[in-house]
Amino acid sequence: MSEIILQTHNLAKRYKKRFAVSDLNIEVYRGDVFGFLGPNGAGKSTTIRMMLSLIHPTNGSITIFSKRLDKHRGEALKRIGGLVEKPDFYGHLSAFDNLKFIGSLYGGVNKKRIEEVLETVKLSDRINDKVKTYSHGMKQRLGIAQALLANPELIILDEPTSGLDPQGMREVRELIKNLSKEQNITIFLSSHLLTEVEQVANRMAIINNGKLVVQGYVQELLNSSDQYVQIQVEPIEAAEQIIKSFAFIKKYERHNNSLLIYTSIDRIPEINAEFVKHNLQVSSIIPRRSLEDYFIEMTERAYPAFQNAKTKGVGNA
Ligand SMILES: Nc1ncnc2c1ncn2[C@@H]1O[C@H](COP(=O)(O)OP(=O)(O)OP(=O)(O)O)[C@@H](O)[C@H]1O
Ligand SMILES: [Mg+2]
Repeated sequence: MSEIILQTHNLAKRYKKRFAVSDLNIEVYRGDVFGFLGPNGAGKSTTIRMMLSLIHPTNGSITIFSKRLDKHRGEALKRIGGLVEKPDFYGHLSAFDNLKFIGSLYGGVNKKRIEEVLETVKLSDRINDKVKTYSHGMKQRLGIAQALLANPELIILDEPTSGLDPQGMREVRELIKNLSKEQNITIFLSSHLLTEVEQVANRMAIINNGKLVVQGYVQELLNSSDQYVQIQVEPIEAAEQIIKSFAFIKKYERHNNSLLIYTSIDRIPEINAEFVKHNLQVSSIIPRRSLEDYFIEMTERAYPAFQNAKTKGVGNA
């Protein structure tokens, strides 16, 4: 069993009467890329602020490296790097000088280390340019460089890909995967995209309305959640008769003019072949996972303006 390096215990934060986070219990193991997934307002940033000791919990506690954060704050913070929402830098200073300044606050950060972290985030060629001339993506990468400056064992990143274009998002994801693989850094990152978490994280927690919905291994959660196939087929009555003849299909439902068939995706060709053999018209086959549907629904409730994007959904973005 791997070592737990970050853990929250019934963590809660209340603002006036509302709990932004409540009864949150999550565990991050050494070596994890841990995705903290939730829609807008779920409580991600509030949790991260408590983990970085920027705000105090109302109830509960956090342990980092097996010690309580509130009792060993200085010691813990030396071993973690953080990036909270938009990183703040001096625009009139270069990336190098910004990191030199931040490094002087930590102590023990030399020129070589600054160059190293800027190389890691691929900013070496812009090292002497003023930060105000940087694009949003470059600033975001500089934020990650800053989090890496003091050789942390754990980095905590709040929505590191937020506001980036698809190329910028890809670059940051690659960077995160490399940090995990090549430098053995444990990474905790928040996101509101299930696809993103699926691409970078091995473990995840979903948070909604300040409460934990589920946590575990990403692949297990996605695979153990019911898989089903939505097939649009005509005539649907004939299709139902065929479905009943397959012993491996334990459950199916009719949904408007399609069938929702609860089975693993590798059974699709077999089912499809049988439909075709009986001259049925198959117009679409969509593999679905209920965890994905669930998350899409949850996100749509948080972004009602995007309701007509329903069929596209976050999970397929
Ligand atoms: N300083 C504050 N004062 C009052 N309420 C706050 C404060 N900070 C956060 N909240 C509330 O706490 C809840 C959770 O906010 P939080 O910023 O943690 O969500 P989030 O998951 O990071 O969302 P987003 O995806 O939009 O960044 C929201 O209802 C928010 O309005
Ligand atoms: Mg946030």
